Amino acid sequence: MLEILLFGYLITCVSGQGGADVVLSCSLVEEGSGMGGMGGGALFSRTPATLVLRDLAVTPDLSPDTLTPFNPPAVPDPDNIILEAKVESPEIPEADLLLHADCNEQEVTCEISRYFPRNAKEGSTEPAYFIGSLQIEGGGLSLTLVLQTLPLDQSDRPALMQSKLELPLSQSGTLLTEVVFLVFSRSESHSAPLGGMALLDCGFRQQAPPPGRELGLEWRLQHRGSGRKVLEIRAGQTETEEGPAVHVEREGSSVDAALLVGQGNASLTLARLKVSDEGTYICTVSTGLYQAQQVIQLHVTQPPHVSLSEEKLVFRDELPQKLSCHCKNYYPLDVQMEWFSVSSTDSEPDSYWMVLGFLVITILFFYQVMK
Ligand SMILES: *[C@@H]1O[C@H](CO)[C@@H](O)[C@H](O)[C@H]1NC(C)=O
Repeated sequence: MLEILLFGYLITCVSGQGGADVVLSCSLVEEGSGMGGMGGGALFSRTPATLVLRDLAVTPDLSPDTLTPFNPPAVPDPDNIILEAKVESPEIPEADLLLHADCNEQEVTCEISRYFPRNAKEGSTEPAYFIGSLQIEGGGLSLTLVLQTLPLDQSDRPALMQSKLELPLSQSGTLLTEVVFLVFSRSESHSAPLGGMALLDCGFRQQAPPPGRELGLEWRLQHRGSGRKVLEIRAGQTETEEGPAVHVEREGSSVDAALLVGQGNASLTLARLKVSDEGTYICTVSTGLYQAQQVIQLHVTQPPHVSLSEEKLVFRDELPQKLSCHCKNYYPLDVQMEWFSVSSTDSEPDSYWMVLGFLVITILFFYQVMK
């Protein structure tokens, strides 16, 4: 039984020469067509698709003998959408996590859509581009990949055309692509205390950029329907160019420009957190050619400061007495409060604690309202 289970795991994580192949079930998302103009109809349509990431560079902790490389279907089918992506340069960071997610049957959500780079030639269909968004369920890694189709090595036979995308397929019935740009985050959700500091993880990788290309980074905050810019950087991608232009909108926010240009690290630091910093952050990296984003949630949390109005209550003449509990300086504001008595010690009579239950309880909520 154990062997059967093990085998079941291993066939989902397949390995090629020197690296591993990861096969993901995805949806091809397209803007819906013809579904009744204003205010009606499905805006997007979804078609099942497969994304195969070839030869991921991973640490070899799985025995290569037990793994087999991805095998395309024996008979190419023009209705299948199989994107085969060469991942060489840039490499996918934390590719181990993807492989392990695949092997551990952790879900990886995957959406693919057509992408039209900003400087693409009008009307040209070659090469074609796709954008793939991958997220490991439960966090750990989120990736946005820009995939560029590779020229087919045209032999005597005319290539089969993918029926939906109208793009030529390889001999094995797959769309051959390579990863040309990616933006990633290793923490899609982050909690930090009020007044403290937060580091929102975001990074990018690209093929060697053509000289003179600008690199742009924008961090935006989206919260309850309104959005604002937090910080923006424009920098040259070569050292000879003048220093980066940094535009800080939210005081106390920063990105290390040297890490951005040198290592593709676009992480945002926010100092002196306020409640108004909470929300959805969007990290957008653009090179001259491509642009992609990551979305990261920031939650601000602050445990309450709790105090009692009296340290000791003494009952005389059966008069009711008031004990209040003060709870302040906490966030978020949805709070639950509970009174309970610790079982009596020898020195304190039971009645003392019993009476507590009948006290008028006044709960005063104070909270810091941050601008
Ligand atoms: C960016 O740099 C910070 C600080 O050195 C580090 O903690 C973080 O992991 C880096 N993130 C990426 C995406 O490289």
